[in-house]
Amino acid sequence: MKLLVTGGAGFIGSNFIRHMLGVQDEVHIVNLDSLSYAGNLENLSDLSSDPRYTFIRGDITSAQDVEKCFSQGIEAVINFAAETHVDRSILDASVFVRTNIEGTYVLLEACRRRKVSRFIQISTDEVYGSLDETGKFTEESPLAPNSPYAASKAAADLLTRAYHKTYGMDVIVTRCSNNYGTHQFPEKLIPLMILNALENKTLPVYGDGLQRRDWIHVKDHCSALQSVLMEGQPGRVYNIGSDQEKQNLEMVHEILRILKKPPELIEFVTDRPGHDRRYAIDASRLKRELGWKPKIRLEEGLAQTVRWYQENAEWVSRVRSGAYFEYYEQMYEKRDQTLKNS
Ligand code: NAD
Ligand code: DAU
Repeated sequence: MKLLVTGGAGFIGSNFIRHMLGVQDEVHIVNLDSLSYAGNLENLSDLSSDPRYTFIRGDITSAQDVEKCFSQGIEAVINFAAETHVDRSILDASVFVRTNIEGTYVLLEACRRRKVSRFIQISTDEVYGSLDETGKFTEESPLAPNSPYAASKAAADLLTRAYHKTYGMDVIVTRCSNNYGTHQFPEKLIPLMILNALENKTLPVYGDGLQRRDWIHVKDHCSALQSVLMEGQPGRVYNIGSDQEKQNLEMVHEILRILKKPPELIEFVTDRPGHDRRYAIDASRLKRELGWKPKIRLEEGLAQTVRWYQENAEWVSRVRSGAYFEYYEQMYEKRDQTLKNS
């Protein structure tokens, strides 16, 4: 299968590409990524010589860039490319509207023209809004996004749905809960808290810290997406989650405990505007219909993630400084030169 993965240089996309190449011999992956601040080719450096993998730098909002990928005979598309950080969307929503909505439109149109057999839109549980103390989001829960980020993802979901209803296209939407694991950009809760604690900086907890999130290891998300790609039903929405709900404050204390750092590092700061209080995902449809099960327990996955950030200080400093991009430009130049000379 020739698969177009968009946003494959980011956190989940890079983990997904590595997962797919690990489990499937008969797959060729084209990774289209604009390399925004969150995209990092270093996440995939171990695959750069794999003949089943091709990287194309380009933007999903550009029909030309997308066409360049499709001219390679793409059979299925999985769209991870997005602006993903809620706090950034509160400061400036424009790029969220462009990438998350317009970008999805450009990809859907290309799939329609090219009669691509499957399109998977990677959405999020944030499209459902916030829950009270009890209950979980099912695929039938109403969409009630609260941040500009979540609203842009909800718009893309509905556009994807419309292409199924109107044009009969084979599309699937997945809505996953909060991911954690290796290679996550250190602006999100878990890597930010790990790195601040390692440097003895304060850990900024928004509001009272009693908001709840439902955590899934990125590897479990990737195995769920493999099931959806291979066996999902056209037009269906699948929730993805692993029933591991925790308060933010509990997560932060656990990170401090693993690192043997004092709780005094915690600093309560001004809350995020429109902050969703609680997310919890009911993933029973995916388990029942496709037989998927998550494997990684939060305690074990979090300890491994903390270790990874401790052991990859160079990755962290390049990601933070932006120098990784320069580094990779040079690496690719060198590689092209070597290929030319050989
Ligand atoms: P990320 O921010 O780590 O990566 C996003 C990637 O998209 C980057 O490589 C970036 O360069 C690329 N990108 C951004 N704009 C682009 C554009 N216009 N054209 C091409 N590439 C572009 O994000 P992530 O956390 O890996 O999330 C991936 C997807 O999963 C997103 O769609 C997100 O909404 C969804 N999601 C994330 C989570 C989570 O907890 N991180 C949970 C559920 C769903
Ligand atoms: O639920 C899925 C979503 O999870 C994805 O769609 C988003 O792309 C992803 O960013 C994530 O959104 P959240 O807003 O839940 O994740 P974030 O890591 O930004 O924050 C997690 C919780 O921690 C949230 O309640 C806000 C809080 N927080 C976050 C940061 C960065 C803090 O208290 N302090 C912080 O410094």
